[in-house]
Amino acid sequence: MTKASVKKVVVTAALPYANGELHLGHLRSTYLPADIYTRFRNLIGDKAIYLCATDEHGTPILFKAEEEGIKPEEYVKIWRKDHLADFKSVGIHFHKFYQTHSPEHTELTQTLFNKLKQHTCMKPVKLHWCLKCDMSLPDRFVIGTCPFCNAEEQYGDHCEACGKVIPFGELMNAKCKKCGTASTIKEAEHLFFKLSTFSSRLESFIHNQLKAEKEVKNFVMAWIHEGLQDWDIERHISWGVPIPEHKGVFYVWFDAPIGYMTTLQKWCSENNEKFEEWWNPQSDIVHFIGKDIVYHHFLFWPAMLMAAGFNTPTEIPVRGHLRLEGKKLSKSRGWYIPLKAWKGKKQDWEYLRFYMTWTTPLGMKDTDFSASDYVQIVNGELVNNLGNLLQRILKFSENTTASKIPESEVGEVFNKVVSLKKKYEKVMLAGDMQKGLYLTSEAGKLVNVYFQAKEPWKNPEIAPEVIRTAASCMKIITQMLVPFLPSRVEKISELLNIKVKWEDDEPLPVGHILRKAKILFPRITDDDLALIKSIYEAS
Ligand code: 2FM
Ligand code: ZN
Repeated sequence: MTKASVKKVVVTAALPYANGELHLGHLRSTYLPADIYTRFRNLIGDKAIYLCATDEHGTPILFKAEEEGIKPEEYVKIWRKDHLADFKSVGIHFHKFYQTHSPEHTELTQTLFNKLKQHTCMKPVKLHWCLKCDMSLPDRFVIGTCPFCNAEEQYGDHCEACGKVIPFGELMNAKCKKCGTASTIKEAEHLFFKLSTFSSRLESFIHNQLKAEKEVKNFVMAWIHEGLQDWDIERHISWGVPIPEHKGVFYVWFDAPIGYMTTLQKWCSENNEKFEEWWNPQSDIVHFIGKDIVYHHFLFWPAMLMAAGFNTPTEIPVRGHLRLEGKKLSKSRGWYIPLKAWKGKKQDWEYLRFYMTWTTPLGMKDTDFSASDYVQIVNGELVNNLGNLLQRILKFSENTTASKIPESEVGEVFNKVVSLKKKYEKVMLAGDMQKGLYLTSEAGKLVNVYFQAKEPWKNPEIAPEVIRTAASCMKIITQMLVPFLPSRVEKISELLNIKVKWEDDEPLPVGHILRKAKILFPRITDDDLALIKSIYEAS
């Protein structure tokens, strides 16, 4: 397989708020699929970079910093460091991880605003106001009932139950989050982005240009058909990007996605690259997100880009929520698995990557993490299948040919594995990492069945063919494993004595020397299972 054209690929993952622990839900919906996708695009010869940053503005952060009695700058710094360590612990590799509270981000946000200014206007708004605290109550400072679906305990800006953006002042039964006082309404004027004027351009963009799951597109189309509301982008708090020639700061959801660009710009300046060569219609711009922020990424962000004269994203892969043992995650009740705890309990991060990919489809479907299912899938599909295959190839060749690839033809199964690799390339390019992993596992199973059926230990005359064929198949499977198990792949490559090259579809040459077997995939034990359950079962 040789590559016709090399693409530049900008991969982003939703910027995590710098205000709380990362957990398996974040990993599964966003950070892991994006990491796997970037590794895959680089594997096949594209130039892909994976960018992310902490999302540091907004009322929740200000609120929490105030609660802890520290400056928001200090507060976000603590979480940025925490996130970076967590990502590293599960092999998430960013080419650049930056931050939205930075001079570059302020400058870029203001520049972008100046470019789209003609698509904004001032409009009267009703502000929630707390007479007791004597302050306006934007977003997280107010709590009440969603005017669309009547879900209770929702914040002022966004309903977590129906996913809709709640226009300012329309939250019902609103109360001050700090002191519980019923809010009163105050009239004011705010800056709005005229989202409603982008309806038909957004419709055509989503219909004709954007690559995304059909079910997500249908969801977004329904919102457009219901009618888009202009978007209030002004807040009066002390924390955020100042709006040029205004008193307030931008609403956090206005500046956050610009963080994708800020991070790209920062990476470019550190790597002697040009921003325009990466953010342009020839490159792929792929935003990985969870399903709760579809509205912002399919509507607000593309409209902002259109208004400011930039090209829109090419693809937005969306994934659903994670449950734990069949129940909704709850941070307050401790019903979740922090990334830290996985490391803390000394569990294997690549096994976690394997399981999360195995169980996560593309699209909005929610799925479950169950500790016993985790053990079953990893022991069954990885240890018993791929781990076992590697082990038996190395052991058998060690005992039969002193680890040398003998003179022989390769069996038909090799071509079958190469054709699975071709299918894998297609599905992975379409962003379906789960199918890619299934095909990798299918290849392993084919070769295990072949090995077993030939019984080379009983039929020495067939041993050369089996060794050469199975070891060559393992080479192809190793290529397919690169995005999922980056660290194991290095070790497998050492044992097979190969360098991974995606375009190499040849059998191993006669005379090639393999290394001695080593256990790379130990089984998950009952003790591990108990340790994993202890993370959440006490809660
Ligand atoms: O929902 C969230 O966690 C947001 N911090 C995501 C921001 S994504 C992007 F737009 F920056
Ligand atoms: Zn109050």
